[in-house]
Amino acid sequence: MKRLLGFARRFFRHRRALLLGIACIPLASVCDIRLTLWIGNALSRLGKKEDPAFLKELVVWLLGVAAIQGVFRYCARWWVVGVSRRVEVELKQELFDKLTRLPLAFHVRSRSGDIVTRLPSDVENVRMLIGPGSMYVLGSLFMVPGSLWVLFHVSPGITLAMTLPLLLVAIVMMLMTPRLQRHSTSVQESLAEIAARAQESFAGIRVVKGYGLAEHENARFRAASEKNRGHQITLARVQGLQDAAIHLAYDLAFLPILVVGGWAMIDRALDVGDLFKFVDLGFKVFWPVIALGWIAGLFPRAVASAERIDELLAERSDIEDPAAPRTPAKVEGRLSLRDVGYTYESAPRQALAGITLEVPAGTTLGVVGPTGAGKSTLLNLLGRLFEAQGEIRLDGVPIRELPLDLLRGSLAYVPQDSFLFSDTYRANIEFGAKEPLSEAEIERLIRLSAMSDEVKAFPSGIDQLIGERGVTLSGGQRQRTCIARALAGDPRVLILDDALSAVDTETESRLLGSLRSAGRGRTVIVAAHRIATVRGAEQILVLREGRAEALGTHEELLERSRWYRTTWERQRMSAELEVL
Ligand SMILES: Nc1ncnc2c1ncn2[C@@H]1O[C@H](COP(=O)(O)OP(=O)(O)OP(=O)(O)O)[C@@H](O)[C@H]1O
Ligand SMILES: [Mg+2]
Repeated sequence: MKRLLGFARRFFRHRRALLLGIACIPLASVCDIRLTLWIGNALSRLGKKEDPAFLKELVVWLLGVAAIQGVFRYCARWWVVGVSRRVEVELKQELFDKLTRLPLAFHVRSRSGDIVTRLPSDVENVRMLIGPGSMYVLGSLFMVPGSLWVLFHVSPGITLAMTLPLLLVAIVMMLMTPRLQRHSTSVQESLAEIAARAQESFAGIRVVKGYGLAEHENARFRAASEKNRGHQITLARVQGLQDAAIHLAYDLAFLPILVVGGWAMIDRALDVGDLFKFVDLGFKVFWPVIALGWIAGLFPRAVASAERIDELLAERSDIEDPAAPRTPAKVEGRLSLRDVGYTYESAPRQALAGITLEVPAGTTLGVVGPTGAGKSTLLNLLGRLFEAQGEIRLDGVPIRELPLDLLRGSLAYVPQDSFLFSDTYRANIEFGAKEPLSEAEIERLIRLSAMSDEVKAFPSGIDQLIGERGVTLSGGQRQRTCIARALAGDPRVLILDDALSAVDTETESRLLGSLRSAGRGRTVIVAAHRIATVRGAEQILVLREGRAEALGTHEELLERSRWYRTTWERQRMSAELEVL
């Protein structure tokens, strides 16, 4: 409840529109009841054979008040629903902001899918209750007691008799709404599963075909479809049940009006106008009562959703801007690591420990080691994607004391899995720059990343759509595009995490050569499986099981590290075999 009040506060920010909308609701209800009373009274007068001349004036009044009522209803909906949509957008934006700012460790821990897929429905649950929900409650709060009060004055007996079925229908709605919601969520989930199944099968079509798995995939798809069919049928059954219950209650509510009212009419205790009032107002309060039951049913779920949203918003980021940031006048790109380590939350042992080294500005550090040695972990620590144990300094300032924007703006990171957005080639490169790039700059980046020939061959050149709905790039082309993106921001420190693994050795050495000559003064940290990639680096770090085994130049390491020497020889041999 406290949580929902917290959300209500968000609505309060738009109080002007909200108050105007809410003020319209009772006004519309008053008009509505007034109309029924006028028509009922007119019928009574006609029943007493009065001169129908009064009808002319009445019709004008009826049309006028009906129009005013329409305007009030329109405004109420416009304002209240408008505000609830605005709150929804603000809340979604706030959550998105939060999710993008939360540290990588959070996303690793929560397997982002879980939270992210549930978020839209959580937001929707809360919005439904506070937006349209509160509008219906407010509408009912005036309409239902107002109508019953008017009817009570006409005939207390009939009013009491029709209240009972109304109460019943509200309770039925309240009990059935959660079930309905549960089943419709199952339907949504199974639909999403079908889409995911199909998407995965086609994304992995090479594997599916290569391994002759078509029949297997077909069976999995069929299973997902059948599950969905089951949920759809259950949902339809519950919906049918609810429909039937509502109609039954509807008839039950009108039965006392007809029976008791009919008797009263025969006794002349009630005239036709009064009966009309019962029928008409009975009809008008029936739907608000249903809405009340529906909202009462929505309530528990909305509270649970509000709790989850709150938890996410309260999630603290341990990687934040420092309270008193130190901003150096100019970033040179000198990195110093002292006793740096890292332990993943879910892991029993340190992934990295005791790394101490110095990378002078403008030099290259190669990082090699067997798979799982901690290369990617080390590279991630430099940009504070994870918070390192020990101390990392950039130009002598601990990176924890640098403004995050400055730190991440000075580094460019090319991850091991070259991720591209499904957008144009140009947009993918510009993503790495702080401002739009000139044609000449883009040309230069394409040249630097050794992609000129390929980009020329694209049907639409640099405006070619790549990814899902465009040209599909090869692994090596993707990697080089990622490098162009990293260079677009003209970073002082370039971090390449095995970012050339899918590029052939010849292109690789051409690319590294041009990176070095173009990046004069730029610090480069490059992790690699191929020793040839890092051979020319001023320093090479050999990592094994998270520890620094050796540090030195290529020649020094050939003497100092057995792993380095044997790996180098093996790789050289297989390269020679390739040439043969
Ligand atoms: N998110 C994670 N949670 C738990 N442990 C992890 C996580 N990521 C990596 N590790 C572990 O940390 C260790 C170092 O991993 P890292 O990815 O840094 O290795 P790497 O040297 O980059 O390997 P590769 O050459 O295969 O890229 C491994 O033992 C790995 O299993
Ligand atoms: Mg790695």
